[in-house]
Amino acid sequence: MKRSNLIVLKTATWIACMWPLGLLVWGAVTNTLGADPTSHVALTTGYTTLMLLTITLAITPLRKLSPWLSWLIKFRRLLGLFAFFYATVHMLAYAGLYAGFSPQTMMDDIAKRKFITSGVATYLLLLPLAFTSTNWAIRKMGGKRWNRLHKLVYVAAACGVIHYWWQVKTGVLLPLPFTVVIAVLLLARPVLSWNQKRKASAAVTARGSVSTAGD
Ligand code: HEM
Repeated sequence: MKRSNLIVLKTATWIACMWPLGLLVWGAVTNTLGADPTSHVALTTGYTTLMLLTITLAITPLRKLSPWLSWLIKFRRLLGLFAFFYATVHMLAYAGLYAGFSPQTMMDDIAKRKFITSGVATYLLLLPLAFTSTNWAIRKMGGKRWNRLHKLVYVAAACGVIHYWWQVKTGVLLPLPFTVVIAVLLLARPVLSWNQKRKASAAVTARGSVSTAGD
């Protein structure tokens, strides 16, 4: 991809990722966050976190599907860090607006409300991923270990979906699209890896027979 196109796309990504936050700030300033502003902030930031996490997760399978999409890798870290940013705002919104920063209330909630427990678990899974997202961390850990650790993103996404299901009322199917997409992405991973290995070994065999024929 041309450098100028990349700059345009990166700028667009930044604007798109900042958009939900901008709307929240605008709503807070103009007092138009609706009847329940606390819930509005929590729902918007939670939803945006899961959306960005899902998009981040989709990048590797999409790249494996087509070499034309290899440029997507340049956006993975940015999107992942924005997911973590919204998760942090979401967590702080809960801590401040719901629990009034009371450690006791938070501990009680974590112990008694399973949707809060799963939310905290999801956030804790995202922490090591965010902290090891720098080039320095990749060099220090080595590619293999880094890749192994970053598989946690799948567990985090699954936990995020469970958190969503436990948060909605019985019978509400809003988390279903996320569940389906994340399940497909999870299943796609081994299938695409197997396909890649199969293609690579076919290429080696073909090269071998060409050189034998030339002997
Ligand atoms: C410390 C961690 C977390 C806590 C305490 C927490 C808490 C909450 C609360 C209180 C709500 C409900 C708001 C309401 O009904 O008014 C909520 C909703 C939600 N949270 Fe979390 N959460 C956490 C982490 C996460 C993470 C990491 C994700 C994403 C991966 C996430 C995704 C969601 C989603 C998708 C919703 C529902 C949004 C909607 O209905 O549109 N949460 N969370």
